[in-house]
Amino acid sequence: MMKYTFNFIISLSILSISNAIQQSTYIETDFIEDLTKSTLSSTRWMDYTTPQPFQFDQSNKRWTTHNPAYLQLGVSLPNNPDNAKGMSLRLSQSYCTDAGSKCCFSSKCSNWAGVHLQTNSCFQYGVFNIRASFKLSNQNDALFFFGIFVESGSNMDSSSVWNEIDIGYGNGPSYSSQTSFLPATFSPNENKKVFDSSSNPQYTDSFSNGYHNYTLYWMPDYVAWAIDGIVYWNSTTLSQYPTPWRCSSFRIIFRTDNGLQTPSSDHYAYIQSLQYISKSTYLRTSSSTSQKSGDNSINLQNLVFKLFFIFLSFVFI
Ligand SMILES: *[C@@H]1O[C@H](CO)[C@@H](O)[C@H](O)[C@H]1NC(C)=O
Ligand SMILES: *[C@@H]1O[C@H](CO)[C@@H](O)[C@H](O)[C@H]1NC(C)=O
Repeated sequence: MMKYTFNFIISLSILSISNAIQQSTYIETDFIEDLTKSTLSSTRWMDYTTPQPFQFDQSNKRWTTHNPAYLQLGVSLPNNPDNAKGMSLRLSQSYCTDAGSKCCFSSKCSNWAGVHLQTNSCFQYGVFNIRASFKLSNQNDALFFFGIFVESGSNMDSSSVWNEIDIGYGNGPSYSSQTSFLPATFSPNENKKVFDSSSNPQYTDSFSNGYHNYTLYWMPDYVAWAIDGIVYWNSTTLSQYPTPWRCSSFRIIFRTDNGLQTPSSDHYAYIQSLQYISKSTYLRTSSSTSQKSGDNSINLQNLVFKLFFIFLSFVFI
């Protein structure tokens, strides 16, 4: 028995070591994810079709089982003003309370099933445009994150400093039973803000239920979060809170934050669109002055092309 436990611990630590040194397959460039299709790009995203535990290495208030059935693509989004199709996500106890111990892995069981998606690729600066709606129950502590952090599949450098950027949403007793908007960075110190019905600007349940444009600007000297074009927080780099700099995976995490078995209603999130604009594209298109230099570089490219053709015709003549 001891030996088995020992072997199990050894293989677990080998697993976490191999996770820790795993490299991303590529650095991400501009994309718009097509959420109307029935599957996600398998180049960009790690396999999400297998039920598996996530954050079981943390305190059990986080333990959640990824249930592929709680991630649906190409579905009609409820109450969407554009009648759009997109991604629907759910966090619920029902998958775990059904017979069959489907939420137990080795000796640990979670009371909640949700969603954990992560990219094969890593991201380094840029702008994320996300149009989404949230319906989080106030009966149980739940968190939804668009999270950018360095872990398995994301470290293309030799640094070991924890880097994380979150566009978070929480509800439940710990959030005064109202939906809160939770922007944060870690580098490694935590730097965060809470927006709710008593903050300025405000963020409320009814607002979170609607479809809004959430934008994250991640630049070398600041990280800013905007909703429908209004900047909620612009965190400029400080010595205690440097702007995260490491190439990091992008994740979608829908998990419990108290792990309770006490019956609670389900939590939902609906994503209409997800776009990433690289830093270079953003800087080229964001201001008219940089637009001009962008045009110049196109002219320069044309010139290089023309010279190349002139050179080719010399070679062939
Ligand atoms: C939100 O983004 C969509 C494009 O995804 C755009 O058509 C719409 O005007 C934006 N709305 C606001 C309020 O910014
Ligand atoms: C954030 O602040 C920096 C520094 O003042 C500024 O250059 C940048 O434009 C701001 N970003 C947004 C989205 O407001």
